[in-house]
Amino acid sequence: MEITINKIKAEAHEGETILEVAHRIGVEIPYMCYAPAAQHKPSCMVCMVKNVGNGQLLPSCSSLALDGMEIETDNDEIREMRQMSLELLLSDHRADCEAPCVIACPQNLNVEGVLYYYDKGDFQKARKLMAAVFDLPTIACDECKGPCEKICRRGMVDEHVEIKAIMRELANMEEIEVVGKPADVEVKDKSKFVSKIGRFSPKEQEWLKVSIDAKSRCIHCACVARHDCKLRAYATNEGIKTPRFGVSSSLPFKIKQHVNGRLWFEPAKCIRCGLCVYNSQDGFTFKGRGFDMQVVIPDESRSHVSEELANLCPTGALYIYE
Ligand code: SF4
Ligand code: SF4
Ligand code: SF4
Ligand code: FES
Repeated sequence: MEITINKIKAEAHEGETILEVAHRIGVEIPYMCYAPAAQHKPSCMVCMVKNVGNGQLLPSCSSLALDGMEIETDNDEIREMRQMSLELLLSDHRADCEAPCVIACPQNLNVEGVLYYYDKGDFQKARKLMAAVFDLPTIACDECKGPCEKICRRGMVDEHVEIKAIMRELANMEEIEVVGKPADVEVKDKSKFVSKIGRFSPKEQEWLKVSIDAKSRCIHCACVARHDCKLRAYATNEGIKTPRFGVSSSLPFKIKQHVNGRLWFEPAKCIRCGLCVYNSQDGFTFKGRGFDMQVVIPDESRSHVSEELANLCPTGALYIYE
């Protein structure tokens, strides 16, 4: 069988999908609800391509390559459709890619990272992150107006985290040596998509007030998957800054469920692609229908689920945390 993809002629094998042929010949097609060699059902519509012969748009992850087919993978119509699909997924996605305090810091300090180690009592690592941008014990925070505190999400719940005071406390711990080379400073990439969560509901505010009880009171807003999340990468590629349809998820921000071992699940980041459902036996499952449908993990099924599933998840909904 022979098909043409973006005017490149390619041999297609019996039972191969358009996406498989395209990837085999080096033509990239984005996808979210598909993963190579895994069970899947089309739902995200991010992998759409055009059948030039009849003008139809098709999900390439589940449409078989047929003899004589002529396919286009990129044009204005396809990009518009892909963008719409991504924006629909993002409108139901309540999470921060980056912590707002980190974005706000003019010194490029990994504020959330410092607070993470501070909360764990690992002052050496916290000071090491600070030493990557400051000449300790001198810190720019003392003279800074503190945009990190003004934007801190905890301020939407009750009071912002006392970031400047915590940085000073850590800077004063001169007896705790900074061992090894300070971490590389991550340069902020302003072109990257940053998920916005909208306002907290009164219920969420109450929940966050009582459940986020770390010493610093930091919510630890940043997403573990921010460096390899497909949703973020594709939204960046499509130039999406703010989802056209707003953010209206009914799923609460930052509810994290421990699945087993090092595996965690955060439903508000789930795009319901089903990859974890179709690839775990008696593990994850769908609950409800239509817009209210959710992916859930029943208590009695947690032990059946393998950590490998985190590799299938296209977002930070399923992730490994040490
Ligand atoms: S107070 Fe410190 S951490 Fe906050 S924005 Fe200023 S320099 Fe950055
Ligand atoms: S809650 Fe923590 S991570 Fe979030 S903005 Fe405030 S200081 Fe930063
Ligand atoms: S799952 Fe992806 S898009 Fe969502 S917060 Fe994490 S990095 Fe951002
Ligand atoms: S990857 Fe094809 S529909 Fe999601």
